[in-house]
Amino acid sequence: MVPESTLAQMAARGPDPLQPGFIRTPATTASVRPTVARVDTTALIDNMRAIRRVVGDDVRVLGVVKADGYGHGAVQTARCALEAGAWGLAVSLVEEGVELRSAGITAPVMVLGGPFPGSEPLVVACGLRPVVWDVEHLRRLASAARAAGGRCAVHLKIDTGMSRLGCLLEELPAVLDCFTTECADVLDLEGVMTHLACADERDDAPTLRQLDVFTDALSVFERRGLHPTIRHVCNSAGLSRFPSARYDMVRPGIAMYGSAGNTDYLLDGIRPAMTVASRVFGLRTLPKGAQVSYGHTATLIRESVIAIVPVGYEDGYPANLSGSAHVLVQGRRCPVVGRVTMDTSLIDVTEIPNARVGDEVILLGRQDTEKIAAHDLASWSGITTYEVLCGISKRVPRS
Ligand SMILES: Cc1ncc(COP(=O)(O)O)c(C=O)c1O
Repeated sequence: MVPESTLAQMAARGPDPLQPGFIRTPATTASVRPTVARVDTTALIDNMRAIRRVVGDDVRVLGVVKADGYGHGAVQTARCALEAGAWGLAVSLVEEGVELRSAGITAPVMVLGGPFPGSEPLVVACGLRPVVWDVEHLRRLASAARAAGGRCAVHLKIDTGMSRLGCLLEELPAVLDCFTTECADVLDLEGVMTHLACADERDDAPTLRQLDVFTDALSVFERRGLHPTIRHVCNSAGLSRFPSARYDMVRPGIAMYGSAGNTDYLLDGIRPAMTVASRVFGLRTLPKGAQVSYGHTATLIRESVIAIVPVGYEDGYPANLSGSAHVLVQGRRCPVVGRVTMDTSLIDVTEIPNARVGDEVILLGRQDTEKIAAHDLASWSGITTYEVLCGISKRVPRS
């Protein structure tokens, strides 16, 4: 739990009603616009169960709920993951870990992004498990733990080829020296880990090379008599494609949300947990030759019925979907016409003779037998499935 004093400090940073310019808003602002993101918590639970079935009871699962649970709501997703048997949770930022603790979540929480200078007292106070790879991380955490009279469990990250976070194999001895000589009184070396750069690429070779480096790193630990209890490597694609690399724990993110970076490697038994829906706000019949939206990138080739849909790139519906995407209305696919704008998109419903104002529009999800998947939006817009899900903005109310 987060200590009262820490919560008080955080609350103190909020807006000050005594300052000029502060406008008091109602405690709850009802959502009037019909654009919503519906999160299916049963799907989140079922997906985590499916992951657990794949890896078996001997492998722990750490549900990755960073970036507000890939847009699904971090606290809600965390609760679903734990209900389905996840051992713990992973976030990127200390702040995200504090959010989980403030919601009363007591399960292990790993901070994947590392401890930024100054965050260490909060890490220790909230009992977070930071990923570390540098002697300075260890020293700062150790002094925060000593100051608090507590301990801190850390996971040491090896850079086996992602070239992002982690220590290189040749740097490992110095980090381990620092741990054993200076920090072992207050830090627990609970885990050793790495992260795969190409787990969802068709070519296995880069992943196999990374796994070899990880094996070498583990033997350095062993030679020093260090045996971290949790060795972990795999994200969603890794756990499905490289069973021998599951070690003691896996770290699925996107699979828990029912998706995949590369749909060739979609895990069996999972389904998307998010639907993004809106409603037709207005219908207009426009003549052949009318030019549509900013830049006049689309010209109607026939008289057309165009529906106005109140969703735009500010909601995370990517601007470059223009001219390539479809939505679902009355169970049928309708093309998006012209540029998606900040707040509004236009769709061609000419083929739906009884289209009505108020009809539900599915931007992401299922309607009758049709579906628009996150990877469809990704391929239409040239971004990744991750960006589609994380990109659904806070302006879109979750239900
Ligand atoms: C270190 C680490 N582990 C696991 C994950 C989860 O990855 P995925 O969503 O591909 O399962 C991420 C996500 O970026 C990550 O950074």
